[in-house]
Amino acid sequence: MHHFQYRQGRLYGEEVPVEAIVKDVGTPVYIYSRATLTHHFQVFDGAFSSIPHLTCYSVKANSNLAILALFGSLGGGVDIVSGGELFRARRAGIAPAKIVYSGVGKTREEIDDALSEDILMFNIESRQELEAISQRAQALGRTARIALRVNPDVDPKTHPYIATGMEKNKFGIRVDEAIESYRYAMRLPHIKVVGIDCHIGSQLTDTQPFVDALKRLRILMERLYALGISVQYLDLGGGLGIPYADEEPPHPVEYAKAILKEMNGLSCTLIFEPGRVLVGNAGILVTRVLYTKTTPTKHFIIVDAGMNDLIRPSLYGAYHHIQPVVPYERDEETVDVVGPICESGDFLARQRTLPRVEPGELLAVMSAGAYGFSMSSNYNSRPRPAEVLVDGSTYHVIRHRETREDLVRLEKIPPM
Ligand code: LLP
Repeated sequence: MHHFQYRQGRLYGEEVPVEAIVKDVGTPVYIYSRATLTHHFQVFDGAFSSIPHLTCYSVKANSNLAILALFGSLGGGVDIVSGGELFRARRAGIAPAKIVYSGVGKTREEIDDALSEDILMFNIESRQELEAISQRAQALGRTARIALRVNPDVDPKTHPYIATGMEKNKFGIRVDEAIESYRYAMRLPHIKVVGIDCHIGSQLTDTQPFVDALKRLRILMERLYALGISVQYLDLGGGLGIPYADEEPPHPVEYAKAILKEMNGLSCTLIFEPGRVLVGNAGILVTRVLYTKTTPTKHFIIVDAGMNDLIRPSLYGAYHHIQPVVPYERDEETVDVVGPICESGDFLARQRTLPRVEPGELLAVMSAGAYGFSMSSNYNSRPRPAEVLVDGSTYHVIRHRETREDLVRLEKIPPM
């Protein structure tokens, strides 16, 4: 469900014609819908209303302050993976008591910042990290609340780059090492064991891997309980997929049902770290056609957004639906939609059937709200796009388009 629909032959974001935003802000531009974001949060969070839980939005999916503040205003917390994300979350007004911190490579400086903020918990990914956090907590006279991120070794059946809960992945602590690590953590004076955590991957389209992971965590929790170690939080990570093409991922209510069935008898607060499912379909990337070009084997549509703006097609071969902002009744063509970047891997779509488009027209790349802007770069010295949040019949620029001055702001030419 999203609020990007045609009305009288033109694409709208909620009540605002996309062309009006483009006229004002230019292209390429990311446009998000507040109503969609709100709806997604409320549906996900509401699906777990029967039990104590905290929905910690995964900041990496889309880190704009306005989005963080919106989820914060709806009662959400956040899942962070860096000091930068902690900074953003705090700037957006997220309470430290609603921040969980994941990631395999937390630096001393990042650990210190999170300890000083007194965040809800660290999701710890290795024995060495546990030791580092313990030492820093001792040095700062603090106590770190922690969960161990357990690697349950289940196959999430997703793209290998975004599968994280298999033994061969770098994430988490192996189930059969977890008990020993928990016992060790319990002996550390500045560490308070409060939780258990896992995150098995992203863009999952089936509930079974989540259920399998939860089953393994349950067994572990029962073994810990028998040893006198009880945890208050069970963090199941993120990963619920969205429809990009013809996938049929479980609805959050279906996901919740599957989880809640397995929870039977367990009394702890559930934490979730959804990213994509909250923001993915709530955003589009609007780009203008610069040129078209036909070779003996291809029709190319050359647009002003490239892999630096949206890397998912190039990096994962990801599918994003592309549709004209103003659709015309024209013959269909099979085209490659490509960007201006000097790499053949710079494409938004390959072998895609679209009604013929002309230079100057606008295309909307759909489902671009997650891992779109947040993975963008300045490659080829391209200023990054503006971001706009539509809200009913108004809209706000929530990030200005970068300028050329922004590109060189931190650079300096030494004496030559
Ligand atoms: N929690 C942890 C610890 C994570 O590593 C992630 C995502 C999430 C939560 C949120 O997962 P989600 O609900 O969004 O699936 N760039 C890739 C996705 C990478 C996901 C990384 N971790 C893409 O564009 O598909």
